Amino acid sequence: MKPREIRPEVYSVGAVDWDRRLFDALVPLPDGTSYNSYLIKGSEKTALIDTVDPTMQGVLINNLNEVGVKSIDYAVANHAEQDHSGTLPQILEKYPEAKVVVTPRCKGMLIDLLMIPEGKFITVSDKEAISLGDRTLEFIHTPWVHWPETMLTYLREDKILFTCDFFGSHLATTDLYVTDEGQAYEAAKRYYAEIMMPFRANIQKNLERIKDYAIDIIAPSHGPMYNKPEFILKAYHSWVFDEPRNIVVLPYISMHYSTRKMVEYFVDALAQRGITVKQFDLTVTDIGKLAMALVDAATVVIGTPTVLVGPHPNAAYATFLANALRPNLRFVSIIGSYGWGGKTVEQLAAMLSNLKVEILEPVLSKGFPKEADFKALGNLADTIAQKHKEHGFT
Ligand code: FEO
Repeated sequence: MKPREIRPEVYSVGAVDWDRRLFDALVPLPDGTSYNSYLIKGSEKTALIDTVDPTMQGVLINNLNEVGVKSIDYAVANHAEQDHSGTLPQILEKYPEAKVVVTPRCKGMLIDLLMIPEGKFITVSDKEAISLGDRTLEFIHTPWVHWPETMLTYLREDKILFTCDFFGSHLATTDLYVTDEGQAYEAAKRYYAEIMMPFRANIQKNLERIKDYAIDIIAPSHGPMYNKPEFILKAYHSWVFDEPRNIVVLPYISMHYSTRKMVEYFVDALAQRGITVKQFDLTVTDIGKLAMALVDAATVVIGTPTVLVGPHPNAAYATFLANALRPNLRFVSIIGSYGWGGKTVEQLAAMLSNLKVEILEPVLSKGFPKEADFKALGNLADTIAQKHKEHGFT
């Protein structure tokens, strides 16, 4: 994408990655992504905010040429992860006068990750400002969004908040700003679930830290910018502060239809009791969709057969993921089947140490489920409905 002017002498100079389908060798990118980078030409100094993934360094360098950048005084790195910092070495080579502006923690990380020489850095404290002449950059430390070194950059005169990963979305688009709020909400929620949810308590604090800033534009470093910031601020507020909802997430896998039969019965039983169920077949599930479902759910029920005395590996993977993402869950249970024995429940329960959840009585069927098993599933559905009601989850 060619550079575009956002405000006089403030440009979007980053890259859109339409074809990338996997991030961190883990996270699916159904809609591609972008690595946004921003250039601010002040009356005296020029600043670059974040760079791009090194695979797209040519786009950033071309864009800087196109905007006619002769020198860069400050290369601000809001975050050390390489999808934003990875082109800093090329920037420093092309613009040797540039100083990398970072939090103290970020400096050490960039030395470790990119071998940037120590003398290239300027470290800034929280709320410190740097003048570009007619423009001022203020740096707001926001640790653990989603690494320990992260900060935001606020362009005071234009009321633009550059947030890097915070409020970002993996969404390739030609639009500078959100135009389709439904699509943007989905992409931002997916991003929150995969990247930010484990740090929910930090996100709460960081939302508090920016609430008194006048913001006209939120400019993240993935996905479109928000020229109606209240849209994404409200969404984040609800994801991190709201109570969970009357939702059961049911990731399952079945080998010979016994667990599948139980899942079908159980999903119906929950629905009959007014509970929303999100069912995921783990042989084909997009883990980003599963992560998104966990944002609002009060309960997870894992469906698995017993394989080699424990859960099916796909069920173990989903359980590991749910534990790592630390959603705001309150209840967990397990349903499934076995042939002659095993330790499925013990092994899965041991994988949930991060979650402050009550484990509800599991239902395991010996072989194909029978009347007593269906009755037990009905009882589990009753218990979940009652628990959700007692907590006021709607
Ligand atoms: Fe988009 Fe944490 O990097």
